[in-house]
Amino acid sequence: MWPAFEFQEDRLILLDQRLLPFEEKYVVCSDYEEVAQAIEKMIIRGAPAIGLVAAYGVVLGLKKQANDCSLNEIMEMVIVRLSRTRPTARNLFWALERMKRVYEEVKKEGKERIIERLTQEARQLEVEDVATNKKIGELGASLIPQEATILTHCNAGELATAGYGTALGVIKWAWEQGKKIKVIAGETRPWLQGAKLTCWELRRARIPVTLITDNMAGWLMRNGEINLVITGADRIARNGDTANKIGTYSLAVLAKENKIPFYVAAPFSTIDLELKSGQEIVIEERAPDEVRKIGSSWITYPDIPVRNPAFDVTPASLITSIITEKGILEPPFESSIIRLSKD
Ligand code: MRU
Repeated sequence: MWPAFEFQEDRLILLDQRLLPFEEKYVVCSDYEEVAQAIEKMIIRGAPAIGLVAAYGVVLGLKKQANDCSLNEIMEMVIVRLSRTRPTARNLFWALERMKRVYEEVKKEGKERIIERLTQEARQLEVEDVATNKKIGELGASLIPQEATILTHCNAGELATAGYGTALGVIKWAWEQGKKIKVIAGETRPWLQGAKLTCWELRRARIPVTLITDNMAGWLMRNGEINLVITGADRIARNGDTANKIGTYSLAVLAKENKIPFYVAAPFSTIDLELKSGQEIVIEERAPDEVRKIGSSWITYPDIPVRNPAFDVTPASLITSIITEKGILEPPFESSIIRLSKD
């Protein structure tokens, strides 16, 4: 089975990413509400993966249609519920829009045919995602020197996608080309995606990885220990401003100060053409206990006031290039984004 998720007829199987790297356990979702809750609880995460499992959530929703609901009603309910799970992830809305479009095309053709077409579309999204990531990997690897120590943040790998990954896809491609790569993974508080997921993935791929806490990056950059930074993205505005895991912005500022290239790798579908700039991106704020605790252990007073934005926005001015499957975008980003959006 593919690491992050697998759809089988009447169920969606998810690797419970909260338990990695120590336990590989799977959670089975048999209706759309279970899928929505799995996304909210971070059993599955990463913008592209969220979009793909939501697409399968739509299929499960229609399959389990309650007797007193019309297909139109259930479709509406499912889309609304799934789109309320993680507001920043552009790919969630993009995938649901694709599912909705197919539904509109075939809604008069009878339930069986509708489910068949929606299942095909969800599978198609999954296949496309892997191909997209491989293209991002191939194009992005041209930016990686023959020998490089690369800092990455959060997890933008196969666990966050249908396979191969975006930022980690670039690293994997360069590694497969025989380049001498070392990765530095930032731990990524509060959920520790770097420590738990990126380390798990890179160990499996046998790519050397060293873990640091988030506050160590600046010092390593200043000491010349990092050659470039590469991250994924959750939503990119038309001008190139990029929302990604909280802490990304600080790394971009540090990279600029230390004259280190800062790359973003993401499918073109992460770009939200309707947003003029990052100021319009909705940033998810999560539960305060995620900051008050590490795992199940309290690290402070249970009533201490907390802020917990899950993402931040890196201004386009701090980004060297955005690597997409359609090409590598250079600043100023807006004109190349508009041009490639027409391809
Ligand atoms: O909160 P998460 O784990 O869903 O955040 C994930 C990220 O920020 C990733 O970097 C981003 O979604 C890109 S994944 C290919």
